Amino acid sequence: KGKARKQAKTSDVVIKQAAVLGAGIMGGGIAYQSAYKGTPIIMKDIQQDALDLGMGEASKLLGQKVQRGHMAMDKMVATLGKIKPTLNDSDLQSADIIVEAVVENPKVKQAVLAGLEKDMPAGTILTSNTSTIRIDELATALEKPENFCGMHFFNPVPKMPLVEIIRGEKTSEQTINAVVDYALKLGKSPIVVNDCPGFFVNRVLFPYFAGFSKLVVEGADFAKVDKVMENVFGWPMGPAYLLDVVGIDTAYHCTGVMADGFPERMSRAEKDPVTIFANEKRFGQKNKAGFYQYA
Ligand code: CAA
Ligand code: NAD
Repeated sequence: KGKARKQAKTSDVVIKQAAVLGAGIMGGGIAYQSAYKGTPIIMKDIQQDALDLGMGEASKLLGQKVQRGHMAMDKMVATLGKIKPTLNDSDLQSADIIVEAVVENPKVKQAVLAGLEKDMPAGTILTSNTSTIRIDELATALEKPENFCGMHFFNPVPKMPLVEIIRGEKTSEQTINAVVDYALKLGKSPIVVNDCPGFFVNRVLFPYFAGFSKLVVEGADFAKVDKVMENVFGWPMGPAYLLDVVGIDTAYHCTGVMADGFPERMSRAEKDPVTIFANEKRFGQKNKAGFYQYA
């Protein structure tokens, strides 16, 4: 009490150009947020459809701002121009920081990260938006793990303030400081956390999802659970709807990582609705069917 607060340490690395790999729910949101807050971003995917969806979502969100009188049309056009969609790795060369946001699969992520490290100028900061996979596990694919850390955004990116920045065993302070600075520039509230499966938030959230799934396996009506959680308990959305928002495929992969990491707390049951829907390719809002149907 009464002591002067130290100013937060800022980084020597200046992020002028960002890139995101994956133009899905998260990659699209990260691209929108970066452009909206003024840092140009290259958005790379392996599918043109995904790039089109990502750009469509960004232009819808910006269009809403114009309609509500919160943004001028020329600013909207300039902001959209700050997102460069591409299918080519060679377009990523100018990025100072790359956020990997591809599927939640350690092998795919390791291959993507190793490829990036090989192709990019030395010193480029690499981050992963993984939900649950340990940063040290992903870092085994890298020759310079000091330039790598987790940068875990929450869905929907434009609305959720928190970003978890995950320090791997070999992550340098310079990398952490640069990523904290970038998160602040995006208008987010970063917290730096240690590495473990699920980091901080998903160690809380996935046991909650698992508890919900168990109720359903025991016969509970998922829509009634949602109604109680939303209308009476007061949360913005119940677990079934939130799983549809997150993506059942992503939730399935995350549950697997968490069950392997914390077998005493989590397990995957065959009759679990997340397992059943994942096998049936009912991935939630992203393909219009999950617990609920979407138009
Ligand atoms: N993308 C972008 N914007 C969205 C959106 C979306 N998917 N959903 C809603 N919004 C926007 C609306 O357009 C609206 O914009 P304006 O403020 O400009 O009018 C604004 O959010 C308010 O929307 P609503 O009135 O419908 O809702 P709200 O303000 O009451 O709450 C919310 C919005 C904060 C997203 C709330 O619904 C919420 O907290 N939901 C829970 C989200 C959550 O738990 N996310 C975590 C998922 S797990 C995860 O991310 C981690 C992981 O690793 C899997
Ligand atoms: P998504 O399925 O919506 O999108 C994944 C995208 O990655 C797809 O467009 C796919 O074409 C693309 N992709 C696959 N391989 C690629 C490659 N080699 N190079 C470039 N693009 C590639 O998934 P999502 O929900 O955006 O999740 C992405 C990551 O973010 C996952 O690690 C997930 O765990 C994490 N995450 C998800 C949420 C969420 O709520 N959905 C929240 C926080 C973190």
